[in-house]
Amino acid sequence: MQKIQIKGGNELTGTIKISGAKNAAVALIPAAILCDEETSIFNVPEITDRDVLIDIIKLLNGNVTRENSTLHIDTKEIINKVIPEELSSKLRASYYFMGSLLGRQNHVEVYFPGGCNIGNRKIDLHLKGFEALGATITEENDKYIIHSEELKGTKIYLDFASVGATINIMLAAVKAKGTTVINNAAKEPEIVNVATFLNNMGAKITGAGTSKIKIEGVKYLHKAIIEVIPDRIEAGTYIIAGALLGNHLKIENIIKEHIMSLISKLQEIGVDIKIEKNDLIINHNSNLKALNITTLVYPGFPTDLAQPISVLMTQCNGISVLEETIYSNRMGQVPYLNSMGADIKVSNQTAYIKGKTKLYGSEVKASDLRAGASLVIAGLIADGRTTISEIDHILRGYEHIIEKLQNVGADIKIIEEK
Ligand code: EPU
Repeated sequence: MQKIQIKGGNELTGTIKISGAKNAAVALIPAAILCDEETSIFNVPEITDRDVLIDIIKLLNGNVTRENSTLHIDTKEIINKVIPEELSSKLRASYYFMGSLLGRQNHVEVYFPGGCNIGNRKIDLHLKGFEALGATITEENDKYIIHSEELKGTKIYLDFASVGATINIMLAAVKAKGTTVINNAAKEPEIVNVATFLNNMGAKITGAGTSKIKIEGVKYLHKAIIEVIPDRIEAGTYIIAGALLGNHLKIENIIKEHIMSLISKLQEIGVDIKIEKNDLIINHNSNLKALNITTLVYPGFPTDLAQPISVLMTQCNGISVLEETIYSNRMGQVPYLNSMGADIKVSNQTAYIKGKTKLYGSEVKASDLRAGASLVIAGLIADGRTTISEIDHILRGYEHIIEKLQNVGADIKIIEEK
């Protein structure tokens, strides 16, 4: 079994270049299915989620070629086929084939999606959206069968501004007859990236990035290209590591507006961050004030950075409070941080973190992707050696994490161990 081993305490100095955003790439690849010709997606991160999505496109008779971080996807001859459980259950984003295949072929059969176990992750809003567009949904032994004779534009109000539901409904609606309006749409930058891709193919989407998205259906989508935006969560993860260990650590290729909620919090508690266009330079501070954070939909503080920042909170002076409002079970890192010496109490998805506590290297487990990232940060600051198991979760979402950290001075490697 592969594990990550870290010997803590090294300063981080040098440059980390941020990759394309996982949560944009995993929607852009299924979105390519809607194109009647071929597309190219640039800056796709080399993560295992990407490979599963490519396998699904190939299963559907698409042709995918890879040239460094570019994917060329030919979807002229797409056929309809059941997406089996062994593929769909490997990641959450397999559900984007619901919207894209429904939009392209009016029919889709796909098994339940997988993804991190971070609470109840319903997809009722996606399904309600498809129904509103005129589709019927049958659930059969863990499989969804979604069918429509003809999708028709309509007005949809989302009870919650769900990222996945907003993208999935947009995918299904681009070729529907007439106009669809999504009210209370999610505003995350990844949604804008997908809408831009579809518009580059000839779709007529306006309002992406606001809470009201309007989609005028078109019949044909032509050849197009798109570049995946920089990963704001990957950037945030390294920025947090820099706040703890950075010595002129440069984080390159960011869009600062996408991570202002994090940067302003860190500056508030005393972290030295200088922003220069698309880069920032960060120096650690060992005298940080405690902070309170509540996760919110964009542009609020992202849920995906709550677990990484919980590690920083263990190094702040006093009690920090971290309230998770998006997921019902996203504190998987806490028992492991406590086993390393942290003092964290959790009640109803709110963590009370008493700092500052010294952390000691330990044997820990990545229960999910961002829990794994938080344990990497904890290992980097801990005294002694930390070994993290179940690292597949981490490699699903962080491109070249080991190399990137080694390059800036971390003592981190992958080992084979039973
Ligand atoms: N929800 C419903 N019904 C729905 C859809 C969502 O109740 O039909 C609830 C979920 O149960 C959850 C909340 O709404 O409690 C948020 O769900 P949302 O749909 O916004 O998230 P998602 O599309 O499942 C994406 C990212 C997540 C990220 C969230 C929020 C992908 C593949 N996943 O998930 O990323 O946390 O948006 O920004 O894009 C991660 O990268 O670690 C990760 C979990």
